[in-house]
Amino acid sequence: MLMEDLLILPPVEVDPAFRADVLNGLRMQPQRAIPARWFYDHAGSRIFEEITELPEYYPTRTETALLKAHCAEVGRIAGPGRAVVEFGSGSSTKTPHLLAAVEPSAYVPIDISGEFLRQSAAALAENFPKLPVLPLEADFTYPLEPPASIARLPKLGFFPGSTIGNMVARTAVNLLRAMVETLGIGSMLLIGMDRIKSTDILIPAYDDAAGVTARFNLNLLNRINRELAGTIPVDAFRHRAIWNDDYSRIEMHLEAVRDVRFSVAGQDFEMRAGETIHTENSHKYGPRDARLLLRAGAWTPIREWVDPDGLFSLILAEAQPPGTAP
Ligand code: AVI
Repeated sequence: MLMEDLLILPPVEVDPAFRADVLNGLRMQPQRAIPARWFYDHAGSRIFEEITELPEYYPTRTETALLKAHCAEVGRIAGPGRAVVEFGSGSSTKTPHLLAAVEPSAYVPIDISGEFLRQSAAALAENFPKLPVLPLEADFTYPLEPPASIARLPKLGFFPGSTIGNMVARTAVNLLRAMVETLGIGSMLLIGMDRIKSTDILIPAYDDAAGVTARFNLNLLNRINRELAGTIPVDAFRHRAIWNDDYSRIEMHLEAVRDVRFSVAGQDFEMRAGETIHTENSHKYGPRDARLLLRAGAWTPIREWVDPDGLFSLILAEAQPPGTAP
């Protein structure tokens, strides 16, 4: 092999899916777009934790208050002895409220990031010493085989944070149906879904005064530069958070503030000032939207809790056998 060949080899740890999503996304027309899941490298996950503590970011504290207030009722409806299966468990910060209230027989946190998963599973196991904690490192967007030891147990899925809102309707429905396959008919699902509200609340929640969300969004460009040998001038981009009323969602974009040229993984790109890369959707739901989405995903809503300001909802749903519709 010649020296020149060695120089053009890609860096060792390139995730081929990241490379493909970025290169395809930067070429996409009329709107460039990169999937939001690539926000969550180590730095991005840490910045996201900062977001959850921002005064403007109401979802985390509102959902936590709902969990504290209503998990006892979830426990009464679901009954004791269920295996709690958390999808995208991350730091599992909200989970103790649920586990303390539902008398679970096991806890299965599922996350794609093994390092994060093992750390938070260990911390949880310490706080619930009698509870079997069985972490599963996997992509929960596909149907999964739960650990054999919980196969016969009744299950309660947990999907907080309105993470469902980061998916377009078709992907959200596919995910909900995959959850039915993973958990089985007769299972329950406790899901957090963010409500439609005034843009006076929504925009600052995604464009905070301290600029933490801007850092979260721009970190994607740093990640591309680091992992895909990119030359993107990060200072030539700014964070934008836009309410798209047609789609009932907040969109995050990275906007070029001047004409730019850069390369990623050896491929050249040009963007004009004002052009954007669409990096995230965060859908918000009216009460009927939320219930319809769940039903389309084969879950029947059975109980719903909303905070007094109507900001956020927590819905308990059941995977019932398919019925005969008129
Ligand atoms: C993870 N997800 C539910 C967050 C949201 O609110 O859509 C991600 C986020 N993006 C910017 N701020 C928070």
